[in-house]
Amino acid sequence: MDRGHIKIDGVTKIFRRTDGNETLTALSDINLDIKPGEFIAFVGASGCGKSTLLRTIAGLETPTIGTVLADGEEIKGSSAKRGLVFQDHALFPWLTVWDNVLFGLKSTGKKKEKEDLANELIKMVELEKFKDSYPYQLSGGMSQRVALVRALANEPDVLLLDEPLGALDAFTRMNIQDVLIDLWKERQNTMILITHDVDEAIYLAQRVIVMSPRPGRIVDEINIELSYPRNRSHSAFIKYRNAILEKLNFAHEESIPDFSI
Ligand SMILES: Nc1ncnc2c1ncn2[C@@H]1O[C@H](COP(=O)(O)OP(=O)(O)OP(=O)(O)O)[C@@H](O)[C@H]1O
Ligand SMILES: [Mg+2]
Repeated sequence: MDRGHIKIDGVTKIFRRTDGNETLTALSDINLDIKPGEFIAFVGASGCGKSTLLRTIAGLETPTIGTVLADGEEIKGSSAKRGLVFQDHALFPWLTVWDNVLFGLKSTGKKKEKEDLANELIKMVELEKFKDSYPYQLSGGMSQRVALVRALANEPDVLLLDEPLGALDAFTRMNIQDVLIDLWKERQNTMILITHDVDEAIYLAQRVIVMSPRPGRIVDEINIELSYPRNRSHSAFIKYRNAILEKLNFAHEESIPDFSI
């Protein structure tokens, strides 16, 4: 796939607080080139601007300074080319799994092809038997799989994932991590994942970006040179984990004011 190239060019995002003139720099001079079909993950403390960056790529926020380009064109709003999945899978409660997946698909032509793709994706996440179920009849993990399928059924070039597995128990989470890899290999789109879970980042991504808060900036990037499927107990995996945790601690300490006398 040659689409799904994202170029973040000198992005700074400053929010003006509603209570007066105070400002908050959520992102400071972010530069990053995300290759088509790359699986990239962002880790960093709460408040370091991860969601703001993802929303900017989605076209839901505008940079105060700098630009974000998708396949060479400046992003100026949301687009079906960039799908978004959040932590709390917002399924429509009044629609079945099947209707949730097909919701929002452009009705122009190719209905059969779209339904075939939806069926293929539903099969991949093992939800064939639940196509006629309503969201309240599903577990959290099942709902999250539906949310992933719904986003992919639109055939986005880029999938933006904001802690999509954050609310799940460890076992379900590991299960869906494997589903995510299968979906990525099959669709070959660009995956941009935000996670608090360092192991999840190393298990899934080809490159992990470490961010630090106040102001949100990139402090390091680590290429994960391990073949898939990855082994969480492998010594190389553990080395990556230690290296990233060290970077996160460093980033954390640096942000704490020095009160020593
Ligand atoms: N619309 C907004 N208006 C004002 N400030 C905002 C807005 N959105 C985010 N912020 C601020 O920008 C900073 C970064 O927020 P953001 O949600 O991007 O962080 P995050 O890294 O995703 O955090 P978490 O890991 O907790 O989800 C925070 O200090 C937040 O208060
Ligand atoms: Mg966030």
